[in-house]
Amino acid sequence: MADKTNELKLAFAEALSKVNTMEELENLRVEYTGKKGYITGLMQEMKNLSPEEKKVFGQTVNVLKDEVNEKITEKREELKKKELEAELARMPEFDISMPPTLKRGSYHPITLVQRQCEEVFKSMGFAIEDYSEIVTDYECFEALNIPKDHPARDMQDTYYLENGQLLKSHTSAAQNAIYKKYKDALINEGKPIKAIFPGRCFRNEATDACHENTFFQMEGVMVDKNISISNLIFFMKTMLSEVFQKDIKVRLRPGFFPFVEPGFELDISCLICGGEGCPSCKHSGWLELCPCGMIHPEVLKAGGIDPEEYTGFAFGLGLTRLAMMKYGIKDIRDLNSGSLKSLSQFTDDK
Ligand code: DAH
Repeated sequence: MADKTNELKLAFAEALSKVNTMEELENLRVEYTGKKGYITGLMQEMKNLSPEEKKVFGQTVNVLKDEVNEKITEKREELKKKELEAELARMPEFDISMPPTLKRGSYHPITLVQRQCEEVFKSMGFAIEDYSEIVTDYECFEALNIPKDHPARDMQDTYYLENGQLLKSHTSAAQNAIYKKYKDALINEGKPIKAIFPGRCFRNEATDACHENTFFQMEGVMVDKNISISNLIFFMKTMLSEVFQKDIKVRLRPGFFPFVEPGFELDISCLICGGEGCPSCKHSGWLELCPCGMIHPEVLKAGGIDPEEYTGFAFGLGLTRLAMMKYGIKDIRDLNSGSLKSLSQFTDDK
């Protein structure tokens, strides 16, 4: 019997030396120490021995079993180490002790204008709110006085999820939640609602120099007693002159949006061509920058605010457009291109 244990020990050592993968190792383990393995088999043979022999043989087999287990554990560690080394060898070399020769990353032009706008509005007492990119049909349309089958939905075709939710087609989708969040302070404490909410928007859009399927807007609302169009114009003008740091030619013309009444288009004179006409402004010399208006009574009602008592204005600033104007970016597609060559030019302009 002692010979048998010895033989098994040698055979195991030989087999182990040929193991190269975790899978082979596992097979070997099962072959020797598994329920039907050689070592278990040896134990079963003991039943024919005398009690004295059983004791001695039992000990020998146990020692063998421990040794085999130990060797398997060692081999497993060795294989793991090898796997790691092979993986590291496949990775590109990267020396963390090297001095940084690459330039620092830069802020995206849209981030830059967004922050500038936030600063301006913050200084005028507006709260800055973040809102989800996935919204419900109610938030994006119904609560904004755009019922199902309303033609205004045609211009806002977007991407739908299987559960019926959608990628927001405009930042106005957050209006309802903002009214609900702040209405109690307005009604009970007389605190006006003043909030801006920048965000990424999506539309099913054929792309060209001035259209993208993914773009940024910054929505703003102000609700209180006696808010009028003059308040709206004041805030818009202040914001634009702060952002551009110069007087900007603007024009206000009527515009239709179901969630405002009256509604306006606030255009600025195209800064790329100086108003002469170019592809960025569709050769009109003007750029629609900030549609706005007085919040529709139905929209206030949906937000839990009594339109008999309160009025407000809302605007949806095109942050992407604003960035293009401010930095003279001619093609909107550059902004989503990820091209560091075009985007990193604005690093120092914070
Ligand atoms: N949400 C509109 C759009 O993306 C823009 C807009 C128009 C927002 C008028 C407003 C507004 O807040 O008052 O087309």
